[in-house]
Amino acid sequence: MSPIPRQIVVTSALPYANGPIHIGHMLEYVQTDIWARFQKLRGHECTYVCADDAHGTPIMLRAQAEGITPEALIERMHKEHLQDFSDFGVAFDNYYSTHSDENRYFAELIYTRLRDAGHIRTRVISQAYDPKAEMFLPDRFIKGECPNCGTADQYGDNCEKCGATYAPTDLKNPISVVSGETPIEKDSEQYFFKLEDFEDMLKKWFADGHVQAEIANKMNEWLDEGLKDWDISRNAPYWGFEIPDAPGKYFYVWLEAPIGYMASFKNWCDTNGQDFDAYWSTDSKAELHHFIGKDIARFHTMFWPAMLHGAGFRKPTAVYCHGFLTVDGQKMSKSRGTFIMARTYLDHLNPEYLRYYFAAKLGPGIDDIDLNLEDFTTRVNSDLVGKLVNIASRCAGFINKRFDGKLSASDDDLNGQYLEAAETIAGFYENREFGKAMRDIMALADKANQYIDDKQPWVVIKDPQRFTEVQDVCSVGLNCFRQLVILLKPVLPKLAEQAEEFLNCGELSWDDLDKPLLDHGINRFKPLMTRIEPVFIERMIEATKADLIAEQKIQQGPSDASIEPVAAEINYDDFAKLDFRIAKIVAAKRVEKSDRLLQLTLDIGTETRNVFAGLSNAYKPEDLEGKLTVMVANLAPRKMRFGVSEGMVLAAGSGETDLYILNPDSGAKPGMRVR
Ligand code: 2FM
Ligand code: ZN
Repeated sequence: MSPIPRQIVVTSALPYANGPIHIGHMLEYVQTDIWARFQKLRGHECTYVCADDAHGTPIMLRAQAEGITPEALIERMHKEHLQDFSDFGVAFDNYYSTHSDENRYFAELIYTRLRDAGHIRTRVISQAYDPKAEMFLPDRFIKGECPNCGTADQYGDNCEKCGATYAPTDLKNPISVVSGETPIEKDSEQYFFKLEDFEDMLKKWFADGHVQAEIANKMNEWLDEGLKDWDISRNAPYWGFEIPDAPGKYFYVWLEAPIGYMASFKNWCDTNGQDFDAYWSTDSKAELHHFIGKDIARFHTMFWPAMLHGAGFRKPTAVYCHGFLTVDGQKMSKSRGTFIMARTYLDHLNPEYLRYYFAAKLGPGIDDIDLNLEDFTTRVNSDLVGKLVNIASRCAGFINKRFDGKLSASDDDLNGQYLEAAETIAGFYENREFGKAMRDIMALADKANQYIDDKQPWVVIKDPQRFTEVQDVCSVGLNCFRQLVILLKPVLPKLAEQAEEFLNCGELSWDDLDKPLLDHGINRFKPLMTRIEPVFIERMIEATKADLIAEQKIQQGPSDASIEPVAAEINYDDFAKLDFRIAKIVAAKRVEKSDRLLQLTLDIGTETRNVFAGLSNAYKPEDLEGKLTVMVANLAPRKMRFGVSEGMVLAAGSGETDLYILNPDSGAKPGMRVR
């Protein structure tokens, strides 16, 4: 290994806080985690940071659909994501959030530096607007008929049926996913980042080999077409950070998402007494490596380096793209039950099976990776259980039972052969050639099994003259196993931990490869890994189908807003505090200068109340007069622009027109308590 430890920051893309982690995401986190663990195992100072990508319209709308605040949603998602990652063995040094003080600080700093250097300009543009929800609509929130093939219910950016890509304005009969209303075009001023100012810098940066060749070629094509300004602002209502000198305008989530890498790292520095500037200044000697999916290459290889450069920070050492995950040769599919959530996988299978399978399939390129479930079962059973764990279980029995748990001082040329192979394997890890590393490691496991087969300790043990030979063979076997565990430790950290306990050898690092355990006592062997049975996979697929029905209900929230999911649970005491009363609407009139409020006079038996209610788009005042309804009578009075409102009338529905006051059955009288 290199004599001087490198200082390395590693990141994976920040997952959106609007949904659970699935195994497609997990491909990237496992890839990054293996690489980061490998660097640490080699003795480098490697810090792996990530965060939830916690801003943007989809998060705002999902929170609305769930009837909770965005803060509550992102807090819950953060916990769930982190649990999924940690149960998959993904060991971040810091897992933070873009909804953080550090991220606001760096987003504002980078923006103001870019602005002051003349890299920001404003322009009025026309965008899709939902007049009912009173908001501008991202492409994904407009649906309609595909302009190419006519398929209904397609998103505003591309058709799932024929694959055509287009602008939302091309859709036929478009509707807003938020309200169901037809979007209109509306002008507003927006803030743009002048990417063209960085053309020469980017050309050189691509030529210097910081990204894979396939990606550099694609980016160079865009460079040749001429760089366009990038719209970095969004209008309110938006869930994110307001732009400091532009009230009502927010940073587009993609401007501040990569800044989240810095924010998470800064937070780690502050809690670990490290010097942030030593890593992020332009003269930094530290390395910065980003792992991402190929779909977000442009953000990371064009906008992000340009932002960093323009704001006086260092640029990434490397951006590594990977392909997408397919399952059984096809895109992950909800109906086939292959859109598998991380948690569902964890409920049925050992995470290290999948870590190993991904490693066996991963290379340095951007090709898609296929999880073939039959091949997965065969390969895990054959490589991990049949080859790796088998070496330990074949040898441990003899050592534990016949030699009092003691390894002999016998060394063998085999252990030397492993050492020679290790440097090539290290090179494969470094260059993200994990598939080649797994192939070579399994070839070494084959050698150990072959050695044991040849030596036949189960036969030799019967001959008292050759008793110690068995101890020697099994000691060599277990030292091979130990070396394999070191070589596989970045991929199988949990198995390595159990093996360290069994071998009674402390925490293993790469440097321990040439330090065999001689004359050494080991612990009792416990099975380290069991076979995958096909039924486990079948159960996981069935559970996946069930998960998705629940998830779809939440996702559909905005398009059928009249049916909201049930809100967070309250206890009986919370409920008992509410005093509902039957109220008679004795008078109702419109409120001048308000387009939604009616002023109601309510008789609740002992007194009359003045209440302002948002009912004017649903009811004519005269139709309400004389009706009985239900009100919350012990709500604190609220001062409004038009007067004080002394309670609240209960009505069903969510919109302004789609609203229905509650009527009690006949016999109810004003003032009766409702329970
Ligand atoms: O594509 C995504 O899922 C984004 N949330 C990735 C952001 S990566 C980084 F820029 F923050
Ligand atoms: Zn189409």
